[in-house]
Amino acid sequence: MESWTIENTSLNNQELLTNESLFSLGNGYIGVRGNFEEGYQEGMTSIRGTYLNAFHDITDIEYGEKLHGFPGKQQKLLNVIDAQTVEMHVNGERFSLFHGDLTDYKRTLNMKKGFVERSMKWKSNQGDVVKITSRKLVSFHTREFYTIEWTVEPLTSRPVDIKMVSRVNGDVANFSDPNDPRVASGHSKRSKVTGVKEANGCFVVENETYESCLKVACATSTSFYFDKYDYDFTLDNKGIEEVYTATINEPVSFVKSIVYTDTLRHGEQTVEKAIEILNEERHVPFYEHLKRQENDLNQFWSTADITISGDEELQKGIRFNLFHLLQSAGQDEVSNIAAKGLSGEGYEGHYFWDTEIYMLPMFLMTHPEMAKKLLLHRYSLLDSARERAKEVGHKEGALFPWRTITGTECSAFFPAGTAQYHISADIAYSFIQYDLVTGDEQFFKEYSAEVLMETARLWLDTGHFYKGEFRIDNVTGPDEYTCIVNNNFFTNVMAQYNLEWAKKAFDRLKDYDHSLIEKLGVTEEEAARWEKAARTMYLPYDEERGINPQDDTFLQKAVWDFENTPSDHYPLLLNYHPLTLYRYQVCKQADTILAHFLLEDTADEETIARSYDYYEKVTTHDSSLSYCVFSIMAAKLGKVDKAYDYFMKTARLDLDNTHGNTKDGLHMANMGGTWLAIVFGFGGVRVKESGLSFAPNLPKEWGGCTFHVYYQGNVVQVEMEEAKTVYTLVQGNQLAFNHKGQSITATKDCVVTVTH
Ligand code: BGC
Repeated sequence: MESWTIENTSLNNQELLTNESLFSLGNGYIGVRGNFEEGYQEGMTSIRGTYLNAFHDITDIEYGEKLHGFPGKQQKLLNVIDAQTVEMHVNGERFSLFHGDLTDYKRTLNMKKGFVERSMKWKSNQGDVVKITSRKLVSFHTREFYTIEWTVEPLTSRPVDIKMVSRVNGDVANFSDPNDPRVASGHSKRSKVTGVKEANGCFVVENETYESCLKVACATSTSFYFDKYDYDFTLDNKGIEEVYTATINEPVSFVKSIVYTDTLRHGEQTVEKAIEILNEERHVPFYEHLKRQENDLNQFWSTADITISGDEELQKGIRFNLFHLLQSAGQDEVSNIAAKGLSGEGYEGHYFWDTEIYMLPMFLMTHPEMAKKLLLHRYSLLDSARERAKEVGHKEGALFPWRTITGTECSAFFPAGTAQYHISADIAYSFIQYDLVTGDEQFFKEYSAEVLMETARLWLDTGHFYKGEFRIDNVTGPDEYTCIVNNNFFTNVMAQYNLEWAKKAFDRLKDYDHSLIEKLGVTEEEAARWEKAARTMYLPYDEERGINPQDDTFLQKAVWDFENTPSDHYPLLLNYHPLTLYRYQVCKQADTILAHFLLEDTADEETIARSYDYYEKVTTHDSSLSYCVFSIMAAKLGKVDKAYDYFMKTARLDLDNTHGNTKDGLHMANMGGTWLAIVFGFGGVRVKESGLSFAPNLPKEWGGCTFHVYYQGNVVQVEMEEAKTVYTLVQGNQLAFNHKGQSITATKDCVVTVTH
C-alpha cells in the first residue's frame, strides 16, 4: 500500500505552497489546490485556488508597440468561487495547525483511492485535546462534484463545545507575480459575485467574469452528524456562512458537498443544473463516494499503472505523475490539459504542444478513449487555427496558436510563441499516432485527414522552394533560447512528415470518400505539391561534425560560457536578456534530439549518436520538457546509465521541487515525459506504419519493470527483467510485434518469454 501514497508532515510556509500543488486534487474539470480548509496564520502566503478547466476571462495584452497580427487579447484560467473553507472552534478557541500543540500530524495523498487525508491530534491553548481527520475527494464519477469530510473526536474526559463554520466565498482573485514570466503579472480580479441564495437546504453562489461573461454556479450543502446541535446561516453579497454548534463527548462528522457548473458546459441554467446534481450527490454517504472513486481509479490503473521493483520512492513518483495526468485531462468538448494541469495558475491555464507531444501518448497507449477526447478538443480549434493563419498573413492553412484556451493565440511574445510553428506539425503528428495506434478509420476520415491537410497547406504557404529544395524560414523550434531561425531541423522534419501524411490522407480518401476533399477543395495538383515539398524538404546536415544542426546558423554561433556561469544564474531566462541567449549555442531544451526521437528514421544511428553527444553539452534543461527526451535517446543509444540519470531527474521533479516553482503548479509535460521515458525509453516501444516494436533495456538499479500498452484493440503486458522480457496479451486475441528485430506473435493469455 505504501507506494500508493504520498505523505507529508511539513508546515513550513515555502513547502506548504509547494504542497498546495502536490496535494491538489482534480478530475479533468474541477481542480482544487491542497489548501488547508481552515486557513493559515496571519503573514503566511497561500495560493488558494479552485479552477474549472477552460473557465477563463479575457484580458487585454498590453504592448509598448503592437505590430500587425499581434494578438490583442488573451485568456486566463480563473480562480473560481472558493468553497473549501471549514473552520473549527473548540471551547471557543479556533483550531489552527499553527497554534496550540500539534501531534501526529500527517497529510496523505492516496492515489489508489483518490483522496487526500489529513490526520492530526491538537491540543488547544486551553488544554482541550481533539483528534481531527479531514478528507477531500474530487469525484471522477460526477465531474461537477467534490466533497470534504471532517471527523472530530474529543480526547479529553469532559465534553467539549464545538463549533464548525463552513463558508463559500465568491469574492476571489487570481495570484500574480510581476517578476516571473511563467506566472501572470496582473489582472488578478476577473469576476464578480452575481447571486447568493438559499434553495431548499442548499446554497448557491454565482459569479460572472468581467469580459468573457462566463458564469459559474457553486451549489453546496453541509451535514453535521450528531444527535443534538444548533444551526444557523447567514448570506451576504459575497457568499455564505453556515455554523453548527454542539457539545460533544464522542466523535462527530461534518460533510460538505460542492457542485460547480458553468456556462461553457451547462448552458444558461447553471444554477438549476448545479442544484440538480447536488441533490443527486449530497445524500450519497461519504464512504460510498470513496467506493465509487476507487472503482473509477481501478479502471484507470488497470492499464496505466507501471510497477518498478527495487525503488519505493521512485515507484511513488511514477504513480504520482500518472495520477496527476489523469486529474488534469479535460474530457469534454471545451477543455484539454493545461501546462500546469488544474494544480495551479502558472501559464494561466493555457494549452501548449505539451499535450500532444508529452502527455497524449500515455493516454493513447493506455486509455485511447481519453486520447480521442483530447484530440477532438484540438480538432474543435481548427477553425480558429485557420483564422489565425490568415491573421498572420497566410493565404490558407491552419496555424495552431502556441498557447490558448479557446483557440485564439494568447502568446504576447512572438519569438518564443507564435513563431513556434512546429506546434501545427506536432498536432498533426499526434493525429497520425492516433491512427497508427488505434486504426480508427472513421476518426481518420472525420477528423485527422482534415487536420493533416489544413496543416500541410500552412507548410506550403510558409516555406518555399529554393534550388530544388523546400525550406522553411523564420520560425522557432522547441528550444526557446534560439529564436526566429531558418530551417530549424525539428520543424522541417515534422513538417515533412505532416506533408507526407497529408498526401497519404488525400490518396486514402480519394478512393472511397470524396466529401472532405471536396469540402476543402483539395486537387490532385495540390496533393502533389505536398508530396514534392516533403520529398525535397531541406534537412540541414553538418558534414564536419556529422550531425544535424539545429538550424542554419546554430553551429556558427559561439558556445555559451557554461564554465563561468554561476549556478544561481539558472534558469538563464530569468537572468539574461533573450537576445543574449539567442546569440549563443545554448539550448533551453531538447530540440534536434527530440526530432531524432519522434522521427528516428530521418537520420542514421551514428548521426543520432553524435547529435546526442553534441547537444547534450549545450543544453541547460531549463525547461522541464528536456530531461525525459535525453533519457529516451540515451536508452536508445544503449547508454542506459545515462538514461537512468536523466530519468531520475524527471521522475520526482515536482515531488522534490527541483525546478523551484512547483508552487505555481505541476509540470505536466514532464509528468507525461516520465511515462515516455519508461515506455519509449527503457521499453524501447515504437509505433510506426510497420507496426509495434519493443527494445527493452532495463536499468541495472531496477529488479524489474512492468507496463501495459494498447495497440489496435489489444493490450499487452510487458514485464522487463534483466535476463528476459515477458509479454502477455491481456486483451485481444492475437498481436504481432517486433522485439529487437525478432518477430513475435502473442495470443490471448499466452505468455511469451524472450531471454536476452
Ligand atoms: C517550454 C515550452 C513549453 C512551455 C509550457 C516552456 O518553458 O520551453 O516548450 O511548451 O514551457 O510548458
